[in-house]
Amino acid sequence: MLSCKDREALRLPTPSADLQSSRFDELADRISDKCRKWDMKVIESRFGPVPADSIPMWIADMDFKSPPAVTRKFSEIISWGTFSYTHCIDDFYEAVINFQARHHKVAVEREWITLSYGTVSTLHYTVQAFCQPGDSIIMNTPVYDPFAKAAERQGVKVVANPLALNKGRYRIDLAKLEEQIISHKPKIYFLCSPHNPSGRIWSQAELEAVADICLRHQVLMMVDEVHAEHIIHGEFVSFLALEERYCNNMMLMSSPNKAFNLGGLKTSYSIIPNPQIRNRFRARLEQNSITSPNVFGLWGIITAYNECDAWLAELNLYLRENYALLARYFRENLPDFQVMPMDASYLVWVNTKGSGMSASEVTRRWAVEAGVIIEDGSHYVSDGEEYVRINIGTSRQLLGEALQRLGRWAQQQV
Ligand SMILES: Cc1ncc(COP(=O)(O)O)c(C=O)c1O
Repeated sequence: MLSCKDREALRLPTPSADLQSSRFDELADRISDKCRKWDMKVIESRFGPVPADSIPMWIADMDFKSPPAVTRKFSEIISWGTFSYTHCIDDFYEAVINFQARHHKVAVEREWITLSYGTVSTLHYTVQAFCQPGDSIIMNTPVYDPFAKAAERQGVKVVANPLALNKGRYRIDLAKLEEQIISHKPKIYFLCSPHNPSGRIWSQAELEAVADICLRHQVLMMVDEVHAEHIIHGEFVSFLALEERYCNNMMLMSSPNKAFNLGGLKTSYSIIPNPQIRNRFRARLEQNSITSPNVFGLWGIITAYNECDAWLAELNLYLRENYALLARYFRENLPDFQVMPMDASYLVWVNTKGSGMSASEVTRRWAVEAGVIIEDGSHYVSDGEEYVRINIGTSRQLLGEALQRLGRWAQQQV
C-alpha cells in the first residue's frame, strides 16, 4: 500500500460530481468466484513471482457484479430446482431483436439469429464451415489472439493486414487490404468492430470501404461486435446498418458477455441475413451438436438485454471516468507511455516505445516492482509488441491505487 506522503505526491484528480459514488465502487468477491484474473497461481504461471498484494489488470474480465436483474433471475432459476434441457424460446429472439434495435438502431429478423456457445468457439466453427486446410483468413493486426487460433487450429493460414497509425489512432490501410486480398485470396475477412485492441470504432465510411472490397473479391466477412456496448467516445455503427448487399456477405457475432460480465456462461449468438451462409454455418454447428442452450446462458441474455439498459448506461459512465482518470494520470506522471485514444471497451492500449523498454520488460517490471499485473501486446496477433493493455474494468479506488503504484515506480526510475 502507498503511504500518505506518496499518495499526496501522486494525487489523483477527483471524478466529476455525478459519479462521486457509484454501485461500481463495490468490487465483486473475486476470490470466491475462482476467476482466472485474480488467481495467484494463474497469475504467477504467466508473470512469475509477484507481490502478494498485486493488482490484476490483465484478462478482459471486469471486477463488477453482473446486473442485479440477472442475479435475481438466476436465483429464481435455482428456486425452480430443475436445470432441464431447454431450447431457444421466443423471449431469446425478441430480446436480441429489441436490444439490437434499441442500442444499434438496426432491424434484425428472427430467422437470422443463431445461438451458440461463445463467440470464440463460434469463430472456430466458422472457419471449419467455410475453409479447407491450406486456405487463408485476413485480419487487421494487432487483433484479439483467438482470431488467429481459430484459423491455425484448422490448418488455415493467417494473413495479417497491419493497421496504420493516423494521429495516434488506428486506421485500416485499404489499399494494402485490397492488394493482400488479391494476392492471397483469403476465404474470410475477420473484422473486429469496435477493434480489440484499442477500442477503435470504425466509421460507416470505413465499414463500407472494407465491405465493398470484400464483396468485389468474394471474401466472406465475419464481423465481431462483442465490444459494441461499452462506448467511451463517439458513436458505434453496426455493420447491419450497411446496405443489404454488404449484409448479405457477412456473419455478425456478438454476446452479452463483455457488456454484462457474463463470460463464464459461454453463450453467444450470430446474426446472418444470407440464408445460404446461414445454412452452411448452422450445418457445421449441428455436426458438433451446438443446439440447445445452457439454461443460465439463455436467461442471462434475455434478462441482460431486456432489463439492464440503465445498468449499462451507468457502467459506461463509470468506465468513461476511469478512462479519463487513467489518460490524465499517464499524461502527467508517466509521459513516456502513450495512451491510444479509446472509443470503446475497457481495455486501454498503451505504447511503451518512449520508455526505451520493450512492452514485455515493462509488464514484467510493473508486475514485480510495482505489483500491477498488466499484459503486454505480444499475445495479440502480430504488431502488438510495443504495447501493453490495461484493463480498467475495476473500481475507481483500485484503479487509483494501481495508477499511484505505477506513478511511484516511474518516479523511482529517474
Ligand atoms: C474481440 C472479442 N471477441 C470475443 C471475445 C469473447 O467473446 P465470448 O465471451 O462471447 O466468447 C472477446 C473477449 O475478450 C473479444 O475481445
